[in-house]
Amino acid sequence: MKKLILLVAAIALGTFALSAQSITKEDKDRAKALVGKMTLEEKIDYIGGFDGFYIRGIERLGIPQIRMADGPQGVRNNTKSTLFACGVASAATWNEEAMKEMGVGLGQDARARGVHILLGPGVNIYRSPLCGRNFEYMGEDPYLAARAAVNYIKGVQSQGVMATIKHFALNNQEYDRHHVSSDVDERTINEIYFPTFRAAVTEAKVGSVMTSYNLINGVHAAENPWLIRTNLKEAWGFQGFVMSDWTSTYTTLGCIRGGLDLEMPQAFQMNAEAIKPLIEAGIVEESEIDEKVQNILQALIAFGFLDRPQLDKNISEDNEYSRKIAYKLSCESAVLLKNEGALPLKSGKKNTIVLMGPNADVIPCGGGSGRVDPIHSTSLAEGMKSLGKNYVTKLYKDGKPDANTLKKAAAVIVSVGFDKTCEKENSDRTFTLPAGQDELIEYACQHSDKVIVVIYAGGAIDMSRWQDKVSAILMGWYPGQEGGQAIANILAGKVNPSGKLPMTFEKTLEDNPTYRFYYPVEARTKRGMSCKTAFYGEGLFVGYRGYERNGVEPAYPFGHGLSYTSFEYMASNTIKSGDGYDVVFTVMNTGKYDGAEVSEIYVGEKNPCVVRPAKELKGFAKTFIPKGKAAKVTVHLPKSAFEYYDVKSHSWTLNPGYFTIYIGSSSADIRLTEEVLM
Ligand code: BGC
Repeated sequence: MKKLILLVAAIALGTFALSAQSITKEDKDRAKALVGKMTLEEKIDYIGGFDGFYIRGIERLGIPQIRMADGPQGVRNNTKSTLFACGVASAATWNEEAMKEMGVGLGQDARARGVHILLGPGVNIYRSPLCGRNFEYMGEDPYLAARAAVNYIKGVQSQGVMATIKHFALNNQEYDRHHVSSDVDERTINEIYFPTFRAAVTEAKVGSVMTSYNLINGVHAAENPWLIRTNLKEAWGFQGFVMSDWTSTYTTLGCIRGGLDLEMPQAFQMNAEAIKPLIEAGIVEESEIDEKVQNILQALIAFGFLDRPQLDKNISEDNEYSRKIAYKLSCESAVLLKNEGALPLKSGKKNTIVLMGPNADVIPCGGGSGRVDPIHSTSLAEGMKSLGKNYVTKLYKDGKPDANTLKKAAAVIVSVGFDKTCEKENSDRTFTLPAGQDELIEYACQHSDKVIVVIYAGGAIDMSRWQDKVSAILMGWYPGQEGGQAIANILAGKVNPSGKLPMTFEKTLEDNPTYRFYYPVEARTKRGMSCKTAFYGEGLFVGYRGYERNGVEPAYPFGHGLSYTSFEYMASNTIKSGDGYDVVFTVMNTGKYDGAEVSEIYVGEKNPCVVRPAKELKGFAKTFIPKGKAAKVTVHLPKSAFEYYDVKSHSWTLNPGYFTIYIGSSSADIRLTEEVLM
């Protein structure tokens, strides 16, 4: 009997999962019938949110109130819940399965709280380390970000919860975000800034899209018909609904005509007072309002929200599955940037380890709407303590130990970085660490030759003052509630690090390809608004694409990450498969530890007819390989992996000819190459 109940429950869950993937004709017809029963007042009311995070219910029509919650790395808003590793950390795992499991965990946590719509993932491309929201996003490469987003969305939506991809589009800086126009050419938008959103729509069937605060080529995103109608709805076939970011709307007609469906958190522009006179004057048709209500309702119906309670009491708010996945993500996302023999830590009762720095006894998290309060968490200090007597750790919460204690220590761990007060939305952050942290590391280096730096941040920081002096650097991102345990286990060698950088770390800020273009240069007026312009002058050459073109050597390249073991690549081959190629090769674990290797596949065109980056990431695989063993790895490259966006035909195009396939351990550590004809 128990088995039967479980089976029925599994089938029911499977049905949600299936129905959440696409909006059917039946869903549309049912939504249309409901729209037909609504008064004009009800319809206008319906397209504006209320009480911060809700869509109104209409009891007489059986339409329930819909609850939303942030956000990318945990369910927020008046609740405590699992704090997962942040978005950029999930990309740093390069593990599609883990990305999806994070989505499943988030979906379960949402169901446990009756949340219908999760306001994540955030996927804006990392252009510069300064953007205050980089920690929520998924790095500098559109292919990697798309894989992370697609898996996250599929995971969330498999649990009967709608995901929301944000912030559409080009919200790549937080500086003065309401007033800066991101001015970008068509090809760059399509090759760099759109692919993650497009994959979320076409492949993951995301239920809703949130627009961004900024303007795009002079028009605010929430009111931009080229963005919402021409691209999202017409070209990519998006059938869900588009909501504004919180207070990012500016004119009533702009919202109506631009294609926005739902104004959040409330109807500042799309309210009865503003809309009714426009309808009476014949400027706006009632059918334009119907279209928005239809888009919202058909998506809610497809997700089953009109037919079942969203609260699932069978899932504990303190969800064991989510906790397990949060730990897995923390372990797999940490990136070992440098290791000159300091790690793993040597164990032994006489080996005292000194732990110091502002982030040693807290679990740091980025701030703003991405901040989540966990039910429980483990700091690095607690994680180190759990390792037992063979890792005697002295903890210096504030201040620093005297010189003698440092000198005697077997190793000194300095835990530095940002937190919710200084890395967050609505402002940018500094490239340098917060005041006093560089000095703390330098002090440690003066007294110990085994200094290990653990960094919590959403992206690159200035390491120039101490990078050469320290023995090891571990990038922990914002690792989530289990982060302290995961990092302690990595430091002790119980877990072998396997994360790789989803962005390039520059030596100096001036080296970043966007350096001259990041801050707005000019003010101008369009459609009655004054705004500033950030001209994306680096074009396609963001991140490693730019470093390679400019011949600038970074501190740590895109895709870099060390392991305690070593991997050798051999025996590559390409086999025609479908409309593209399978790339096949063997990776051998030649070191002393079991470990996982991320193999990265880049494609470069030999004789392009337009300017193209030297090579671009188009595939990857993460493979766990026991020490002494080898694994055969296959990565498929479809035809689309070889195409570029042609501005004449406004479409992705293949220029037939030869392409080089680079198989590497990072973007700068290419182990094998192949040549193929397309
Ligand atoms: C953020 C969104 C978030 C919303 C609701 C806004 O400030 O930009 O990402 O979902 O607030 O918290």
